[in-house]
Amino acid sequence: MTMPETIVIGTGNAHKVVEIRDALRSVPVKLLDLTAFADVPEVIEDRDSFAGNASKKACEIAQALGCWVMADDSGLVVDALGGAPGIYSARYAGEHGDYKANNEKLLREMAGVPEEKRGARFVCVIALADPVGKVAFTVEGIFEGKIAQKEIGENGFGYDPVFYPPEQGRTVAEMTLEEKNRVSHRALALKAFRKRLLGM
Ligand code: IMP
Repeated sequence: MTMPETIVIGTGNAHKVVEIRDALRSVPVKLLDLTAFADVPEVIEDRDSFAGNASKKACEIAQALGCWVMADDSGLVVDALGGAPGIYSARYAGEHGDYKANNEKLLREMAGVPEEKRGARFVCVIALADPVGKVAFTVEGIFEGKIAQKEIGENGFGYDPVFYPPEQGRTVAEMTLEEKNRVSHRALALKAFRKRLLGM
């Protein structure tokens, strides 16, 4: 298989588009985003894993557009909660993308859990699908940390105020975007994606 000339970034999230373009800037591939297309299907994320959902998104959009498409799925996996919120991270408290309610619910569920049992990780899977909708490969990035006792920090989004890498001693919401992008699950997945792409 040879490296595609063009890849469509299959996400409507403008922050992710910027991050992906930056991570792949030295790769000789043309990157388009969904704003270049009129009829993009709405993909229902109903698989039981990050890889399943990322692959489904990439395949369905690739098939509809007849292009190579990359898509990602990510979330927070908490040991003491048996892996929750996991693939349901965006709508843990009910409504999709209500970050404040999600963090409050997470801290409630974790009340009384001792420090040594507060282990968690952010996971990101990126899938690349070919123009007929077949997965070429998936890659994964994992960002290990712990769940804080309360929300701290203003930066980032989602669960950033309640997640901290122990070696940093501060939450991700206290890190700059540049610092986060050196160690995050998405940054690590993109690094692996870049390597796989260059090896095609
Ligand atoms: P999605 O990959 O955009 O579907 O993200 C799923 C959910 O996981 C988001 O709504 C956030 O709640 C959470 N999440 C994913 N990545 C991050 C991150 O870098 N920081 C904080 N929360 C995240």
